[in-house]
Amino acid sequence: MEAVNMRLLVLIPFLVIVPAVTANIGDFDEVWQTRAEEARKAALQAYNPHPEKVTDNFNKKVHKSTNHTRRNLSKFSGPCMATNPIDRCWRCRSDWASNRMKLADCVLGFGQQTTGGKGGKIYVVTDLSDNDMVNPKPGTLRHAVIQEEPLWIIFAHSMAIRLNEELIMTSNKTIDARGANVHIANGAGLTLQFVHNIIIHGLHIHDIKVGNGGLIRDSASHYGFRTRSDGDGISIFGATNIWIDHISMSNCADGLIDAIMASTAITISNCHFTHHNEVMLFGASDSFSGDAIMQITVTFNHFGQGLTQRMPRCRWGFFHVVNNDYTHWLMYAIGGSQHPTILSQGNRFIAPPDINCKEVTKRDYSPESVWKSWTWRSQGDLMMNGAFFVKSGDPNFDFSNKYVIRAKPGTFVTRLTRFSGALSCREGMPC
Ligand SMILES: *[C@@H]1O[C@H](CO)[C@@H](O)[C@H](O)[C@H]1NC(C)=O
Ligand SMILES: *[C@@H]1O[C@H](CO)[C@@H](O)[C@H](O)[C@H]1NC(C)=O
Ligand SMILES: *[C@@H]1O[C@H](CO)[C@@H](O)[C@H](O)[C@H]1NC(C)=O
Repeated sequence: MEAVNMRLLVLIPFLVIVPAVTANIGDFDEVWQTRAEEARKAALQAYNPHPEKVTDNFNKKVHKSTNHTRRNLSKFSGPCMATNPIDRCWRCRSDWASNRMKLADCVLGFGQQTTGGKGGKIYVVTDLSDNDMVNPKPGTLRHAVIQEEPLWIIFAHSMAIRLNEELIMTSNKTIDARGANVHIANGAGLTLQFVHNIIIHGLHIHDIKVGNGGLIRDSASHYGFRTRSDGDGISIFGATNIWIDHISMSNCADGLIDAIMASTAITISNCHFTHHNEVMLFGASDSFSGDAIMQITVTFNHFGQGLTQRMPRCRWGFFHVVNNDYTHWLMYAIGGSQHPTILSQGNRFIAPPDINCKEVTKRDYSPESVWKSWTWRSQGDLMMNGAFFVKSGDPNFDFSNKYVIRAKPGTFVTRLTRFSGALSCREGMPC
């Protein structure tokens, strides 16, 4: 998607720069213009001027939960072993299925305000078909995600959904696949464009293809013309307060997860990624400074077999990459351009055998004289098999008064990420 979507930045009458005719909106009509403007306001509001409070709070929670599990290990010898603070918040409760919205209390990191469809009705998806893009059939996932009101969307049974075109979600929704084995595969992916407050939990998303475009409904009251979709697994575009948790993803035509065009307040946690080249792109343009408000937490994920690069690839914003397990990569793990701030803490990096690919980091389009001032810090990371992280920026950043709480060190990562990916949960039992 890089560059392609950036070709048209237009000045609309009220003198705000918004992306237009981009990200597959074929007709940037009044409805989309209003959404873009509201999304921009939501993003500015969600932006946290004190990111260190979020990262410190996160690290504190991890310490607390791991201290706790160690002392009370016997408590977790049953079917449930929640090994990190997000999971501990809900997984060991046998009533998770009758109290699904409790999940919304569990998010940590920059997406911590996300509540998704909490407080709304439960919508049960019963129909795996996806045949009518303009008037989706009740009972389908597409019908669920276009409704105006907050909804907590669950699945009546296991199913494999092949989306005919990108699934355009509306705000205040949770997709919660717990209790079913739900695959979104072999068709188009999920689009979160100019929306807010979305939780996506427990899906398998793989083998996503480019969508042809055409007329697609994007809310109960509006549909419009879309150009081809890129084939991202999850495309986050100008969206705010997003939490993606326990998703298994592989092999998509474009990125697995892309967050672009001033998207912010995002947490990506407990996911298992495999078999993909360009894994995650945060910011698609070196010339779009609107991405400076991006704040994203990437945590407890397992970056597994067959991944090549971009875990993530960052621009402009602030990225807390903490307590992830990187067991394979073919080129590099974390990269970027345009002076993003990258706080890498308590990850485990196992370098590949190739002697030329031991470096965790990669900087694009800038000589060292420029990138040496970018804040890329590594603290508590566990480096294995020759992995090394090239730090840059203020060497005192790690020890400043602001960032006081050390992360749980990388030696704990196998435990913290042990249950990454979609879980199989059964009703009436801890998950
Ligand atoms: C966790 O335990 C360590 C060592 O026992 C202690 O120093 C630290 O303060 C504890 N952290 C929390 C949040 O309880
Ligand atoms: C550990 O478990 C015991 C017994 O269930 C409980 O009394 C105690 O409060 C627990 N400790 C912590 C730190 O939660
Ligand atoms: C989402 O929910 C919030 C809180 O109830 C509300 O303020 C907002 O208008 C909702 N968004 C949309 C697009 O309906």
